Amino acid sequence: MKIAPSLLSCDFSKMGYELERMDKAGADWMHLDVMDGHFVPNITFGAPVIKCVRKFTDKPFDVHLMISDPLKYIDDFADAGADIITFHVECDSDISKTIEKIKSRGIKAGLVIKPNTPAESVFEYLDRLDLVLVMTVEPGFGGQSFMADMMPKVRAIKDECKRRNIDMLIEADGGIGSATIAQCAEAGVDVCVAGTAVFKADDAAKAISELQAY
Ligand code: DX5
Ligand code: ZN
Repeated sequence: MKIAPSLLSCDFSKMGYELERMDKAGADWMHLDVMDGHFVPNITFGAPVIKCVRKFTDKPFDVHLMISDPLKYIDDFADAGADIITFHVECDSDISKTIEKIKSRGIKAGLVIKPNTPAESVFEYLDRLDLVLVMTVEPGFGGQSFMADMMPKVRAIKDECKRRNIDMLIEADGGIGSATIAQCAEAGVDVCVAGTAVFKADDAAKAISELQAY
């Protein structure tokens, strides 16, 4: 399993140091949660902050956009150094245009679905996507409980990709740690985001390698 620590759980005043720490601890991707206070009831950081901290690691930046109009900001996040951009199928932007815009910048594109959104809502876009992110909590805050009932959606997306011969990564995000990651692995998740489980651990390298073992 690939592990992407969510910087949402770090001390924002030390974000550069925290990225270096996660890099040394063996993180596969760095997960950066962008919230606009409109699509979700919380505000975090945007492209200028990501641009500033880009130099602290060479690991891929997995930018999760929880914003209402992602299309408007794709160039900003591309310029800031995103390697993967995921945005919500529930957003207000034109989905196809947003995927095209991300791909035109040479960045991997992913669609995210909230807990109440069915797996089928991403099916028409699958052949143009590099990954699908299945939320296992309501987006907006770290430290929430994992929703095991999202695993059938992971399986449904996997099955549809297999049926259509599409090569695709599935990512899961929210409440993932040593007690819940086995369920993700069994359902076929390829990349797990982990905030609390990694940042609140005494030994981040140990926490990451234990999760990677699944
Ligand atoms: C929630 C974010 C997640 C979150 C994960 O809106 O997308 O990335 O920070 O944090 P934990 O692992 O603590 O649930
Ligand atoms: Zn996230």
